[in-house]
Amino acid sequence: MSQIRKALLFIFILCMQMHFFNNNADAQQNRVVINADQELSEISKHIYGQFAEHLGRGIYGGIWVGEDSDIPNTEGYRNDVLQALRDLEVPNVRWPGGCFADEYHWKDGIGPADERPVRINTHWGMVEEDNSFGTHEFLRLMELIDAEPVIAMNVGSGTPREMARWLEYLNYDGESTLANMRRENGRDEPWGVKYIGVGNESWGCGGNMTVEFYADLYRQYATFTKEFSGHELFRVASGRYDTEYDWTEHMMQEAGDMMEGVSLHYYVIPTADWDAKGPSIDFDEDLYFAGIQRSLLMDEYVQGHSNRMDKFDPEKNVAMVVDEWGIWTDPYPGTNPGFLEQQNSLRDALIASITLDILNKHSDRVRMANIAQMINVLQAMILTDGDKMVKTPTYHVFDLYRIHHDTQLLHTHMMEINEYSYEDESIPVLSMTPSKNSDGQIGITITNKSPNTPQSVEIEIRGQQIGNLSEGRILAAEHFADINTFEDPDRLTIEEFTNYSLNGNTITLELPPMSVAALRVE
Ligand code: AHR
Repeated sequence: MSQIRKALLFIFILCMQMHFFNNNADAQQNRVVINADQELSEISKHIYGQFAEHLGRGIYGGIWVGEDSDIPNTEGYRNDVLQALRDLEVPNVRWPGGCFADEYHWKDGIGPADERPVRINTHWGMVEEDNSFGTHEFLRLMELIDAEPVIAMNVGSGTPREMARWLEYLNYDGESTLANMRRENGRDEPWGVKYIGVGNESWGCGGNMTVEFYADLYRQYATFTKEFSGHELFRVASGRYDTEYDWTEHMMQEAGDMMEGVSLHYYVIPTADWDAKGPSIDFDEDLYFAGIQRSLLMDEYVQGHSNRMDKFDPEKNVAMVVDEWGIWTDPYPGTNPGFLEQQNSLRDALIASITLDILNKHSDRVRMANIAQMINVLQAMILTDGDKMVKTPTYHVFDLYRIHHDTQLLHTHMMEINEYSYEDESIPVLSMTPSKNSDGQIGITITNKSPNTPQSVEIEIRGQQIGNLSEGRILAAEHFADINTFEDPDRLTIEEFTNYSLNGNTITLELPPMSVAALRVE
């Protein structure tokens, strides 16, 4: 970020602060009660998962450059991206797709790289896939960033035997031919992969199946998902999207006893038109409001699918796995449309914070989720161009939300909340998650959606004596379409947040327009 711009942003946040303390009447007032002694459900860190598909520059160039690259790398993985992912404490990564998963044959991606076959990635740009990034490369990446692998297996064009053999290759610690093949390929110990997807979007790119057909097929495949050498599996069935509740209900009825999770996909399309989704840059308040408003639909969809699951699983043993979510815009001008590249603005960061709040709220049912996608594709955390890398505003939201990893969701009462109104529509202006970690510290993330109006929020904490606010961080900008670029990579970044006061057990904070703040209370 240029020094001048940084100074301007600092002055902007400072002005907001002075404005509030001197003229508090201008800020809209909101009131919230957090019941710190009422823990509702665990917010699994796996809600903060990522998704890395063989799609465009998501893998090749984005994370994998090969050992001979001029780009500084460790064993072929770019150093800058590795460090950024480590800093984010990414809990899991879903791979190799997406649609790509149902045309991927795992044996293409093992053995000496120069002997691997070249295939065509028919879903994404018809490009040649040289398979230089395969099972070993993915699982080594997971070790390097300390994340759990989530492997989506091929149902659409594979066989139960192919899936079973991949599992044996991954997880068997004995002397079978496949386990020894793994050793010849450089890996002695089994990886113990736990999370697997049994197909992806089997109603669409994964095979265009009816739910009746897929439910039967799921049972057949699941029968052969053996737990080799005691390595427990967590099997995720392909779910559907949006309000397609019947699919979920049928899957639960017919195969609920053979799965640990069922997926749900939801993409925010700002225009609601898949053929003209709207740009990722230079958009107006129409598309800002629409994007934010549509992100709220996740709440309705998760609740709707969960209700159907409750019919067969009131104890919520089967998890909902929201393994694809995020904003999907038109391709960035000048890029290959098959590569799904888009910029990432403050609006998108707010869509992330709002969505994460919704997933946290439903953490009794939602125990894993994956934003689409990690690098260079759709709502990415990281963008690269040659040897350059930039963290997007969405990256910073995931950074702020680390405060909720493996915590307990706290009961909250939104007593008085203003509205953000645009033309003839209104949505609640605030979104938040309160949680408590195992040390008793309370983490609060809070988003002001209004692009125009600062918000004053009075948060009363009941059920626990609080001493001080040990951490305050904020992401804000001057305009909702602001982005980070390779020339100005820190235009939007996390700043210290001091714009609060503490009086007994009540915190009063002053949030600038379009901002996300994270606080830690002890
Ligand atoms: O994330 C891009 C694509 O969106 C995935 O490959 C597919 O599962 C979904 O339709």
